[in-house]
Amino acid sequence: MRILLTGSTGQVGNALLRQLQGLGTIIAPRRDQLDLSQPTLVRQTIRDLQPDLILNPGAYTAVDKAESEPDLANAINAESPAVMAEEAKKLGCILIHYSTDYVFSGNKQDDSGNWVSYKEQDAPHPMNVYGHSKLSGEQAIMQSGCRHLIFRTSWVYSLFGKNFLLTMLRLANERTELKVVNDQWGAPTSADWLAQATSDIVRQIQQTKKPGEWWAEHQGLYHMTPAGKTSWCGFTEEIIAQASKRQLLLKEAPHVHGIPSSDYPTPARRPNNSLLDTAKLTQHFCIQTPTWQAALDSCLTNSALNQ
Ligand SMILES: NC(=O)c1ccc[n+]([C@@H]2O[C@H](COP(=O)([O-])OP(=O)(O)OC[C@H]3O[C@@H](n4cnc5c(N)ncnc54)[C@H](OP(=O)(O)O)[C@@H]3O)[C@@H](O)[C@H]2O)c1
Repeated sequence: MRILLTGSTGQVGNALLRQLQGLGTIIAPRRDQLDLSQPTLVRQTIRDLQPDLILNPGAYTAVDKAESEPDLANAINAESPAVMAEEAKKLGCILIHYSTDYVFSGNKQDDSGNWVSYKEQDAPHPMNVYGHSKLSGEQAIMQSGCRHLIFRTSWVYSLFGKNFLLTMLRLANERTELKVVNDQWGAPTSADWLAQATSDIVRQIQQTKKPGEWWAEHQGLYHMTPAGKTSWCGFTEEIIAQASKRQLLLKEAPHVHGIPSSDYPTPARRPNNSLLDTAKLTQHFCIQTPTWQAALDSCLTNSALNQ
């Protein structure tokens, strides 16, 4: 199987590059070899490479900056995925794409005012440019008729790249006090777990004896996060607790204080409720979701930070 992997210098792409070893010939062009803001180039590259599978974790992910760069965000997150889908359809190639909790408004509640996790069939309603661009990408892929899987995830972290986990570990070593938003809820997702779940599913695709039936049953949109919920503040407390246990902090642990998001204004509005229901993922692919705390534990256990 020839696999075209975008975004291999990002958190999820880097984890995929490692997890996909042995599943095929991986072609992983960097940004200077394949610029995702140039849909025409994307089209030509796919025609030249003739992949069997396109895995697309490459994305414009600068949520705040997207507010002032909507065209660029749209080219990378919507137009290029649309071209990938069109070319995949022509080639008979599979497209696996990633999307986000930010396609939702984050207001879903039950009658008692408790946050309720979003299901795949809930109506999207993005609150910011990034969310709109990712939703357009999803829609183009779903309308293309190509064989596709779209995995929506949330709050991605890894020991690689720029993310909340590494920022908090750095700040915990610099400060005595941390103020962190405590009114946005979600499930932190380890890029390694995401890549492992994806490669399990790629194996299932490769092993099926009846691809027509398999795709009729499985094609579509899935939510892919660990189980449980927390706030950014709760995630910070767990990071510090697990880092302290592993003696990754160079000084006494800082005090963590929760603050409302109104005290931390950002250019892009963010949803309060980022919770995604993953029952469909488990039902279709037998993927067991670890708790978000267990996923963090395994990320830190495998960490070069421990050495
Ligand atoms: N991060 C999150 O919290 C989060 C949450 C929900 C969903 N997601 C989704 O999950 C997927 C993976 O996200 P991630 O966290 O792995 O993102 P990431 O770490 O920001 O990586 C993004 C990747 O896309 C590449 N890229 C960006 N612009 C490009 C361009 N013009 N041409 C070529 N490559 C380009 C980056 O290359 P460079 O290294 O050259 O910049 C990088 O390899 C994305 O679809 C994202 O929308 C992420």
